[in-house]
Amino acid sequence: MDEILAGIDVGTSKTAVIIAESTNESLNVQGFGVSQTSGVVRGIVTNIEKAERGIFRALSMAEKQAQLKVKQVVVSFGGSQTKMIKSHGVITIPKERGTVNYNDRAKLIESAKSVPLPQDAQIIDYAINDFIVDGARGIDDPIGMSASKLEGDVLLFVTQTPTISNLMKALENANVIPTDIIVSPLASANAVLTDEEKELGVILIDIGAGNTDAVIYQRNHPQFVTSVPYAGESVTHDLMVGLKLPKQSAEELKQKQGCALKDGIVEDIDVKIMGIGGREPRIVKKSFISVIIEARLEEILSMVAEQINKNGIELNGESFPAGIVLTGGTTLTSQIVFLVERILKLPVRIGLPGDRNPIPDGMNTPDYHIAWGSLLIASQRHNFNEMLELDRGKFPVFWNRIKNWVLKKL
Ligand SMILES: Nc1ncnc2c1ncn2[C@@H]1O[C@H](COP(=O)(O)OP(=O)(O)OP(=O)(O)O)[C@@H](O)[C@H]1O
Ligand SMILES: [Mg+2]
Repeated sequence: MDEILAGIDVGTSKTAVIIAESTNESLNVQGFGVSQTSGVVRGIVTNIEKAERGIFRALSMAEKQAQLKVKQVVVSFGGSQTKMIKSHGVITIPKERGTVNYNDRAKLIESAKSVPLPQDAQIIDYAINDFIVDGARGIDDPIGMSASKLEGDVLLFVTQTPTISNLMKALENANVIPTDIIVSPLASANAVLTDEEKELGVILIDIGAGNTDAVIYQRNHPQFVTSVPYAGESVTHDLMVGLKLPKQSAEELKQKQGCALKDGIVEDIDVKIMGIGGREPRIVKKSFISVIIEARLEEILSMVAEQINKNGIELNGESFPAGIVLTGGTTLTSQIVFLVERILKLPVRIGLPGDRNPIPDGMNTPDYHIAWGSLLIASQRHNFNEMLELDRGKFPVFWNRIKNWVLKKL
């Protein structure tokens, strides 16, 4: 049965909303909108009222286009305050049945989730890393298999309760109820990575405004997730300090004249920059702007590489035949692909939300990959929940609940 879903990504610099109709086969976009965010620092809501305004504006844009009023939303959450914990679940399959069903899979996840957590922390999401059926590893989907024991390696994503509560409050103040939380790197990956890349081995790096998130896929599953609290805003900040510019001018300069690779500049033109507080404009070389951008991006990427290496994962072509996929607003920086190839020594491509599924043209920008990926995951999980209800012998009331997601036609 069809349902209407709304996905929302409250990023450090912008809030993006997508409204889509989910059928068994596809997600059809009905409306989308993006608005500048304030009151969010490194992905964390620090001023509920300001964050709420960005949410409201992006929602209104999407609702107007879709001609729908949204009541409930799927929201993404991630960044450096979200930690990954590896866990393992085990359950016994009832002898009289002897085959794995959706209920077993749900129980396995519950079993993996029962781990001790630090005070004030909560599990916001999970990802299955590997299923093990009667000791045999590498099972993609155990449903319907004969088994007496089902195990699973599961990644749990844990965050501090107050940080997530503030996001929930901002959403509720904007008159929507968050029903599903999807961890951002998984959402990104679902939007931009191909099945082949996930199977072969790939690193997805999302360089946003406040955070740079990385997720590793091998053998079809996420294996490792990490994040560093520096991204495009750090680049802007360095330009502000290095060139003594107001923030807005530094941002504009970065977007118009920025280049990630000094050696990639073809014509080293003179660029006029405005002084702070009415001071005389000055002239700087484009290559000088680039030196500042390159140094910061190199530092960020080296930090990501260090996190990956520290976890015993080697960054080489054998482990990652599909190389690196870059996403997030900062990947709009000219020549960034060549910089990342030079630093991480793997082939690089830019990933956009339209890489896997057809979407409207205006949505195929780095603004929408997370909201889109969250919707893709949520729609799969809702299908799964329906099967689960059937396995539990219940009428699939789930869809009735979903119907309330849309209050009324505008
Ligand atoms: N043309 C461009 N060149 C360089 N950087 C750009 C360009 N356009 C946007 N950016 C940068 O992209 C960043 C925003 O990216 P994105 O929308 O992915 O971040 P976000 O989701 O709001 O933040 P985060 O994910 O870190 O919470 C900003 O720092 C902005 O300066
Ligand atoms: Mg983001």
